[in-house]
Amino acid sequence: MSTEKTWQMHSTSSVDTEAFGEATGARLKGGEVIELVSDLGGGKTTLVRGLARGAGSTDRVASPTFSISREYKTPQFTIIHFDFYRLAEAGVVAEELREYLGDPHFVVLVEWGEIVQEVLPQNRVTIRIDQIGDESREFFCSYNSEQAYLFEDINT
Ligand SMILES: Nc1ncnc2c1ncn2[C@@H]1O[C@H](COP(=O)(O)OP(=O)(O)OP(=O)(O)O)[C@@H](O)[C@H]1O
Ligand SMILES: [Mg+2]
Repeated sequence: MSTEKTWQMHSTSSVDTEAFGEATGARLKGGEVIELVSDLGGGKTTLVRGLARGAGSTDRVASPTFSISREYKTPQFTIIHFDFYRLAEAGVVAEELREYLGDPHFVVLVEWGEIVQEVLPQNRVTIRIDQIGDESREFFCSYNSEQAYLFEDINT
C-alpha cells in the first residue's frame, strides 16, 4: 500500500522556483500527473518552466492562452500543460485529458484543475503554492511513496 507523503520548500524568487522545478523535472520518468494549485500569479507556470527545462525540453513555456493546453517535447516524453482557468465546462477537454493519463509517453501538468477533478487520477502529485509575500512562496508537495523519487534528497 502506498502512503501519503509531503515535502515542503520555500522559494524567495522565481529563479528559486524554476530551480526547484528543474530538480524535480530531471526526475520525471513519464506517466506522472501533477496538479498545481495556487491563487493567480502564485507561480504555477513559473514552476512548469523549470519542470520542462529539467526534463530536457528546450520548448518555450507559456500560459496556454487561446488554447487550453501546450506541449513541450523532451527526449523521453512529451509534457502536456493544461490550464483550465478559462474553461466553463469540462466536456471535450476532459476527454482529451483522459487520453494522456497513465501513458508513460506523457507527463501531465494541470493548472486550475477543479473542473476536471473527476477525471484526474487519485494517485496524482499535488503541488500547492502559498503566496507569503511579494516574492516569497511556500511549496507543499503531496505524493505517495512510489512517487518519492520526485522530491527526496532535493537540496534547496
Ligand atoms: N518565488 C516566486 N516563485 C514564482 N514566481 C514568482 C516568485 N516571486 C515572484 N514571482 C512572480 O510571480 C509571477 C508568477 O506568475 P505565474 O504565471 O508563474 O503564476 P501562475 O500561478 O501560473 O498564475 P495564473 O494562475 O495566472 O496562471 C511571475 O510574474 C513571477 O515572476
Ligand atoms: Mg499559470
